[in-house]
Amino acid sequence: MTDSDTPENNASGRGNFLEQMRKTREASGRNRAERLNRQPQPVVREALSFDSLPEYQRVSMQRKISGMLGVDNPFYRSHDRAAGATTEMGGREFANFASYDYLATNTDPKVLERAKETIDRFGISASASRLVAGERPVHTALEQSLADIYGVDAAVCFVSGYLTNVAAISCLVGPQDLVVHDEFIHNSALAGIKQSGATRRLFKHNDVENLESVLRTVQADFRRVLVIVEGVYSMDGDIADLPALMELRSRYGFWLMVDEAHALGVLGKTGRGTFEHYGIDPREVDIWMGTLSKTSSSCGGYIAGSQALADILKAEAGGFVYSVGLAPVLAASATAALDILRTEPERTARLRDNGALFLKLAREAGLDTGLSTGYSVVPVLVGDSLRAVQLSNELLEEGVNALPIIHPAVPEGLARLRFFITCDHTEEQIRHAVEATARRLGALKARNFGLASLDMEKMMQLQPLLQTPDNS
Ligand SMILES: Cc1ncc(COP(=O)(O)O)c(C=O)c1O
Repeated sequence: MTDSDTPENNASGRGNFLEQMRKTREASGRNRAERLNRQPQPVVREALSFDSLPEYQRVSMQRKISGMLGVDNPFYRSHDRAAGATTEMGGREFANFASYDYLATNTDPKVLERAKETIDRFGISASASRLVAGERPVHTALEQSLADIYGVDAAVCFVSGYLTNVAAISCLVGPQDLVVHDEFIHNSALAGIKQSGATRRLFKHNDVENLESVLRTVQADFRRVLVIVEGVYSMDGDIADLPALMELRSRYGFWLMVDEAHALGVLGKTGRGTFEHYGIDPREVDIWMGTLSKTSSSCGGYIAGSQALADILKAEAGGFVYSVGLAPVLAASATAALDILRTEPERTARLRDNGALFLKLAREAGLDTGLSTGYSVVPVLVGDSLRAVQLSNELLEEGVNALPIIHPAVPEGLARLRFFITCDHTEEQIRHAVEATARRLGALKARNFGLASLDMEKMMQLQPLLQTPDNS
């Protein structure tokens, strides 16, 4: 016990503390009373019911329209078992192109074994933020593994990929800063920018010259400048022009953040991602971001980079400090999947062969695959949203599960079916999926099926649904 730790001192310390708390509470009570006096009280205010909201009316209108047109909802299909290159729904097996399981680690016995051991040892939850609940060795092992893959000092993992972008971006930039991003960047990065309060500018997709002209015009007014791109773009399947971005970075001194969600395990000879694809020193990119839900078939996200970057995020990023730590079982499963990435590069090679085959066959069949370079993501552009939904439903009849992407996820008129390729897809599955897509899409086009061609009678039936109070 020190001199200042005597019972008398403790008692008087507690007294002072309580006195201070009381004063603060009184002051806030006075402020509140002043606020209430200033504002006229509403007489009676009823809570809005959720079904009166325009947001709900939009959802219910979409349901009614698809019911009226006799088109099933392709979203939220229920699976009977783990989905990979194949899946089972309603007791029937399908070739599955709607899951991210790029390296087929989701059901790999080595991953499952590691997951079970971890549950036995640590239970399910990390129980609280790592700051207070403390570390589990599986967290540090995962972060070390990620840092090794990128050849950088350190990594930090978060409970979701989405949250990773939100937490990291809003921690690193603020209202005095500028974020410039590719126009096709993922919604999670946009959410992070919005939360940060930074000024946001976009540049034309993968157009580094356009980025330069944006930077030249506005960057001088800001404290920090962050540029965000994706390694492999999630909706289009093309690759960021990293060499040109690095060259620009050397002249404009911005931080470069690369979202590797669809590139890790996919690009580069050993699947390390975009830097390996281009042969670039990974340390020259300031912020590597990725998710644990794709190649590593777990859940969570990460930032990899310098030790200082990791230290800042672990101390200051709200989504890390004030959120529960990644579930130990998810950290361990992701680490086991990354071990597979490192020790079995043939999976990456198979994935790449499959992606290239899909793209080649789709082009030969006259399908519009947009900008895709045939790696993990191959879209088939359909244009009309209703036609894309119908095509997805018809493919299900053919034993193929591929989901439509419609507005607002992509601009109106650019609806598509998006095929995720895995290393476990067989040539037969790929050939059948492409052939069935081309045949069914051809027939839909021949019938002129789509929103744009609804006949007058149907339009008249839909009219009352389109006249919700929200539209009046
Ligand atoms: C490019 C990109 N970034 C971030 C995310 C968010 O990752 P998660 O789904 O693991 O939360 C996704 C998810 O699809 C994505 O495609």
